[in-house]
Amino acid sequence: MQNTNMQNSILPSVKFTIAVASGKGGVGKSTVAVNLAVALAKEGYKVGIIDADIYGPSIPTMLGAADDKPKLVKIAEKNRLLPVVKYGIKIMSIGFLVDPNEAVVWRGPMAASALKQFMSDVEWDELDFLLYDMPPGTGDIQLTLTQSIPLTGSVIVTTPQEISLIDARKGAKMFEKVNVPVLGIIENMSYYSNPDGSKEHIFGEGGGKKLSEEMGITFLGEIAINTAVRIGGDEGKPIVLGKPESTEAKQFVSIARDLAEQVKNRARTQPKLPVIEI
Ligand SMILES: Nc1ncnc2c1ncn2[C@@H]1O[C@H](COP(=O)(O)OP(=O)(O)O)[C@@H](O)[C@H]1O
Ligand SMILES: [Mg+2]
Repeated sequence: MQNTNMQNSILPSVKFTIAVASGKGGVGKSTVAVNLAVALAKEGYKVGIIDADIYGPSIPTMLGAADDKPKLVKIAEKNRLLPVVKYGIKIMSIGFLVDPNEAVVWRGPMAASALKQFMSDVEWDELDFLLYDMPPGTGDIQLTLTQSIPLTGSVIVTTPQEISLIDARKGAKMFEKVNVPVLGIIENMSYYSNPDGSKEHIFGEGGGKKLSEEMGITFLGEIAINTAVRIGGDEGKPIVLGKPESTEAKQFVSIARDLAEQVKNRARTQPKLPVIEI
C-alpha cells in the first residue's frame, strides 16, 4: 500500500528496496545481506546497503569499511552525507554515526528517524537495489522501521533449527501485515560438508523449505556452514569476492540472480501506482 508511493517521493532514484530480515539474531542475516549486495554488484547492478541493525551494526566490518566515515558535503546549500563506497557498493550504517552501545537502547521512533535520515539526507544517486540489514526480532522497533521505509519486498533468513523457524515465521507475518511482499526465504547454515562429501545437518534438515511451502513463499536457496563464509565476514571480504569458486559463493550469486529476476518481473506485471508528491 504505502510502498510504491513512498518510494517515489523519498528515494526517487532507487529502483528496488529490499529488507533482509530474520526473526532471530545470529542466523547469518548480515552475512547474507553483504554477499547478496556483492553478488548483485558483480551482476552489474548499482547497489547500496543500509545497516539498520541498531543491536549489532556489522555491515561496515563485513565489507571492510569499519575505519571509513561518510563525508559531509554541501549540495545546493544543503548538508548531504556521501555514503562510504567499498567494492562498488554504497554503504550507510548506524555504526558510522553513533556509538553502537548507545544505539542499542534506542526506541523504535529514534531508530526510525535515523533511518529516515539515511534516505533523505544521503546522496544515494541512482541505484538499482538498496538492501536494508534489519534488526532481528518482530517487536515494536522492527515494526516501526518496516513502516518507515519504502520497501519493494523482504527476504527472510533462517537456519533449519526449529527456534529459528518459529521466529522466521513471525518475521514473515510482520511484513505481510504491513503489505510488504516476502520475496523469499533463504536457509543459512543448512549443513556442513564432511571431507568425504557427506552432509552433516547440524541444525536439522529441510526446515526452510518446509516453512516456505507452508507460507506459500518462494524458497530462494540454502547456504552451507563453511569456515570461509565466517572468515569472509570477519576479514571484510565477503566469500562471493574472496572465494568466488566456492559452492557457497556460487549459491549466493544464484540466489541474487533469482531475486533480481523476481523483483523485475513483479515490477513489470504489477500496475504502477500514481506518484503522490508530499
Ligand atoms: N554460512 C555460514 N558459515 C559459517 N559461518 C557463518 C555462516 N553464516 C554466518 N556465519 C557466521 O555466524 C555469525 C553470525 O552471522 P551474522 O551474519 O552476523 O548473523 P546476524 O546478522 O543474523 O546476527 C558470524 O560470525 C558469521 O560470520
Ligand atoms: Mg547482523
